[in-house]
Amino acid sequence: MQKITLIPGDGIGPEITNSVTEILKAAGAEIEWEVQTAGADVAEVEGSPLPDRVIESIKKNKVALKAPVTTPIGKGFRSVNVALRKSLDLYSNLRPCKNIDGIKTRFDNVDLVIVRENTEDLYAGIERQIDADTAESIKIITRKASTRIVEFAFDYAIKNNRKLVTAVSKANICKLSDGLFLECAREVSKKYPQIEYKEILVDNLCMQLVQKPEQFDVLVLPNLYGDIVSDLCAGLIGGLGVAQGANIGLDAAVFEPVHGSAPDIKGQNKANPTALLLSAIEMLKYIEQRKVAEKVEKALYKTLKEQKVVTADLGGTATTTEFTKEVISNL
Ligand code: NAI
Repeated sequence: MQKITLIPGDGIGPEITNSVTEILKAAGAEIEWEVQTAGADVAEVEGSPLPDRVIESIKKNKVALKAPVTTPIGKGFRSVNVALRKSLDLYSNLRPCKNIDGIKTRFDNVDLVIVRENTEDLYAGIERQIDADTAESIKIITRKASTRIVEFAFDYAIKNNRKLVTAVSKANICKLSDGLFLECAREVSKKYPQIEYKEILVDNLCMQLVQKPEQFDVLVLPNLYGDIVSDLCAGLIGGLGVAQGANIGLDAAVFEPVHGSAPDIKGQNKANPTALLLSAIEMLKYIEQRKVAEKVEKALYKTLKEQKVVTADLGGTATTTEFTKEVISNL
């Protein structure tokens, strides 16, 4: 049995977490969950939305599965997600985007991987109100973080038989900050002659992605562009309900979907657990429970391909519970 930290989050988090833990149990995963709550409700009771016990649990277990946690907009605490990534130095955010059989989308040839820098850029949280009518956010880009994220992208490309790494920036405008990111990317690319290296500006990338997504393979981006472009890419493969992710550092890894807590459908038994389930499948592979991972993957893909029992975001009428039962029966 491997101990893994489980953060059920809030909003639709607990519903999709129940679904995923039920499926993994039925598939025979050898996991003992250590449940750790976080978020607004926890802040009311414990004074912080991310108490130290959560970080300690992940440090000890080294692996976590996390459902989304709400971040108040414009006021209140800083994002639990950003804080978690920073305090565990989970510097790479990996978001594979590949078409899934049965899910109808505009393109059927999307197979790319987003590698998003996870610790700095505008997410460093350095903001101030200069006067009543002026606010300032500071964008931090460092050589250390840029170099290691690009190295991560190239190493990932090699391990996963990918051919091309494209560095994304807005270095024509942010000449110093994005300029430094690109300088590091060029430097790192020289160490990997077997992988093709290209550069693109983020605005052009967005247009190309919605016209010819098949030309991209591994994309490496600073934090903010990575955040935005990964939602765009989620849209290319069927929406947020099916977009998985992982935050990986040297000492710990947290697997979580791209989507948020979806307060608009909270508690309605409507949420699609696929993105969290795909994240859990990657987690199973990461902890070397590959057989179980493949079993769950097959059952999930069969369910999605048949399109008989799918949730509303994929055009179906199934509830979260019905979808969960269908995946289990396909195991
Ligand atoms: P969201 O991803 O929660 O929702 C956007 C839209 O997609 C909504 O219409 C929602 O119903 C739908 N959707 C998302 N996941 C779905 C699923 N699994 N099944 C079916 N439909 C789904 O984005 P939003 O509304 O911008 O953010 C809500 C909250 O989540 C915010 O407080 C935000 O800060 C937080 N958030 C947390 C993340 C995390 O914990 N990693 C990531 C992104 C946002």
